[in-house]
Amino acid sequence: MRKQAGDHMNSDVPEILRSLNHFLSIRDLEAETLRALIDFALLRKRQFLAGELRPMLAGRVLAMIFQKSSLRTRLGFEAAMAQLGGHAVHLDDHHIGLARREPSQDVARVISSMCDGIMARVFSHQTVVELAAHSRVPVINGLSDWAHPCQALADIATIREHFGRTDGLKLAFIGDANNVARSLANACPRTGISFSIASPEGYGMEEGEVQMARQCGRRYGADILLTTDPFEAVRDADIVYTDVWTSMGQEHESDQRDRDFAGYQVNTALLKAARPTAVVMHCLPARRNLEITPEVVDGPQSIIFPQAANRLHTQRALLEVLLDRPRPG
Ligand code: CP
Ligand code: NVA
Repeated sequence: MRKQAGDHMNSDVPEILRSLNHFLSIRDLEAETLRALIDFALLRKRQFLAGELRPMLAGRVLAMIFQKSSLRTRLGFEAAMAQLGGHAVHLDDHHIGLARREPSQDVARVISSMCDGIMARVFSHQTVVELAAHSRVPVINGLSDWAHPCQALADIATIREHFGRTDGLKLAFIGDANNVARSLANACPRTGISFSIASPEGYGMEEGEVQMARQCGRRYGADILLTTDPFEAVRDADIVYTDVWTSMGQEHESDQRDRDFAGYQVNTALLKAARPTAVVMHCLPARRNLEITPEVVDGPQSIIFPQAANRLHTQRALLEVLLDRPRPG
């Protein structure tokens, strides 16, 4: 039988990563798998920058569904597919009406009969779970109300690059215990990074999440701290991280949230309470003068823009891992 584009597998994707079928949340990953994925992404980044990347996904197509706005996630996946010799199709949710015009299961079945992967940014996490349950090709969560695993992947890779290691570091998250915080609470202990989070009363991390993070942290020497005091959270922190107080889908709560989070701004005074060598991270988009001040975003301790650039490099590696495999028959 004639070999077709897409029948091959790139042999140097580490074996441990071949077991990944979907990428819905960091919690689904063993620590060793996450660490291997980060190593692989940083290797491929170096090869890309040296002009040595091969078009591993020639002839492959990624379908991208967006129920919410995006710059980094969409561009990262679209540019990555082009760089790997494949193609990305943007499906505007106004047109396809995921889980409204058509049930997720039918959308998943149709897309997986035409494409090699699905990336979806959704309101309800359940939607990506349903897509994965009915898809015959890998599904990637490009952000849900519950998790943002692609962000955490880029974040830990950025930390590894900056410090040359992850074990023994401490990350302090200041603000809402949202999708980004939850993914970091799972990614940090898996990579030996202690995680503290300071949120106002009523916006803290769920007890179950904290227990799970603690359990994982015990195995990899990482502590987990939950507090309402930002200064307590940043003590001895190597990384100070924040995100918007109002996530997409919560816009109707924004006035109340701006009031409730007023004492949770990442500014020069708070940064001074962390280690002198501490860096600042933010997943972007940032609202200057709300959760973070302009002098911190643009200051010498910020690694926010290299962090954003790593969305491309880590997503490209993730695509190679998930899409470079034999097509379902
Ligand atoms: N951080 C992030 O996911 O950015 P976008 O919302 O622009 O994709
Ligand atoms: N927590 C934010 C992250 C945006 C990248 C949101 O969900 O809107």
